[in-house]
Amino acid sequence: MDNYDLIRDSKENIDEYIKNVEKNYGHNKRAKIITHGCQMNEHDSEKIEWILEKMGYEIIQDLADSDLVVLNTCSVRHSAEDKVYGQLGVLKHLKKKKNNLKVAVCGCMMQRKESRNYVIDKFENVDIIFGTNNIWKLPELLLKNYETNKLSMDIEENFSGIDDTLGANRLYPYKSYVNIMYGCNNFCTFCIVPYTRGREQSRDPRDIIREIELLAKNGTKEVTLLGQNVNSYGKNLQKPISFANLLYRINEIDGIDRIRFMTSHPKDISDELIYAYRDLDKLCNFLHLPVQSGSSRILKLMNRKYSKEDYLKKIDKIKTVNPNIALCTDLMVGFPGETEEDFMETIDLVKKVQYDTSFTFIYSKREGTFAAKSNEQIPDKIKHDRFQKLIDVLYPIQFEKNKKNIGRNVKVLVEDVSKNNSENVSGRTEEFKLVNFRADKNKIGKIVNVKITDTNTFSLTGEIIE
Ligand code: SAM
Ligand code: SF4
Ligand code: F3S
Repeated sequence: MDNYDLIRDSKENIDEYIKNVEKNYGHNKRAKIITHGCQMNEHDSEKIEWILEKMGYEIIQDLADSDLVVLNTCSVRHSAEDKVYGQLGVLKHLKKKKNNLKVAVCGCMMQRKESRNYVIDKFENVDIIFGTNNIWKLPELLLKNYETNKLSMDIEENFSGIDDTLGANRLYPYKSYVNIMYGCNNFCTFCIVPYTRGREQSRDPRDIIREIELLAKNGTKEVTLLGQNVNSYGKNLQKPISFANLLYRINEIDGIDRIRFMTSHPKDISDELIYAYRDLDKLCNFLHLPVQSGSSRILKLMNRKYSKEDYLKKIDKIKTVNPNIALCTDLMVGFPGETEEDFMETIDLVKKVQYDTSFTFIYSKREGTFAAKSNEQIPDKIKHDRFQKLIDVLYPIQFEKNKKNIGRNVKVLVEDVSKNNSENVSGRTEEFKLVNFRADKNKIGKIVNVKITDTNTFSLTGEIIE
């Protein structure tokens, strides 16, 4: 049976299960989905929402009114797992008051045997468990649980290509996530993702193009291509193609105005991709290139397969090809064995690159990864001090970079009503900078011209140019 047979089969089954749940257990039910983790999980939750709506569930925000709660979990740091355990504790109490409440747990934590077993042992209130590779089984598992009132669980270790034939209730109709690949083969020594998401697999480019064409027809203007290491896209396909080649094809799709992607691994960034930033009008002026550390010694221990010098050379090349590109990165402090000198190398790199935005993390020991075995773990106090020092260098750079936008006219895709002022709307520039400005709500979903009048470290303020 090839992937396509499996897909057809599972889709027929899904409809059958959905009908059964509806018929036997009513469909005036309400569900809440809680999502932790990265864009992969956010997009998986969009798929879960689509399935639940097909089953007749109304998606709501209030936990206390829910008949079903789906917790989509993340394992990347200890704190992410702790949040889930906290929420499961709250749900345990809620279930005592409302015993027909169903609790489903899915996502990366459930792909890890240790976390899964812990949840099963400690939280007898959990009804359904499924993994990242078999989201489409939710109706079947729910039905089984209704019938038996016992935990129904299914975890698939390896991805079988099925969930992308299902739909997704995208959070915004005008900007959409599209998976282009799954899993990761890199085994950075700090990272749990290869153990939760499995081996790297690329989607067929024809499926990706078809999905984006359909999205464009339905009003999507911006696509964000998702993968843990998009630069190695296509290498394992029967007919290999490069990531840059995929971008050139997507650039041809009518109706799509903006293309973004995440995440790129510096070791695999090719000249072909760098030149795409010169040649493709729809490719946004923004690159997220996680460096993790500025110390070549630590990068080696992390198994990142590039040195500080390699990374800086690539950045120079990108800046030469596209001097206006906005750069973003991920940085980690307190990796086992990191000395003060190593940390100062990170500070030096950050000053050299001048990032527009950054995600900063304190190393978190993940059992099962190589770095967790190291006996050179860094004390918490040192980790926190380095974290603060790093931020103290990053934020003023970001502030200065944002300030340079004052007086510029920029194109903004309007996304929503502003969080802090309901008379304002907010959106993103091509460089992924958040802009707040006064405009009618009917501009949401449109790309408009905005003159930047003020800035701070995290956002810009402007005036719409009609
Ligand atoms: N695939 C992406 C890459 O290699 O750039 C990263 C994906 S990971 C989900 C996002 C970020 O989480 C990483 O870039 C890293 O900075 C951070 N991260 C991963 N494992 C971590 C750990 N054990 N402790 C702290 N931060 C971690
Ligand atoms: Fe984790 Fe490294 Fe894979 Fe990124 S490339 S997901 S950091 S193992
Ligand atoms: Fe993402 Fe967390 Fe899984 S960062 S891939 S949801 S471990």
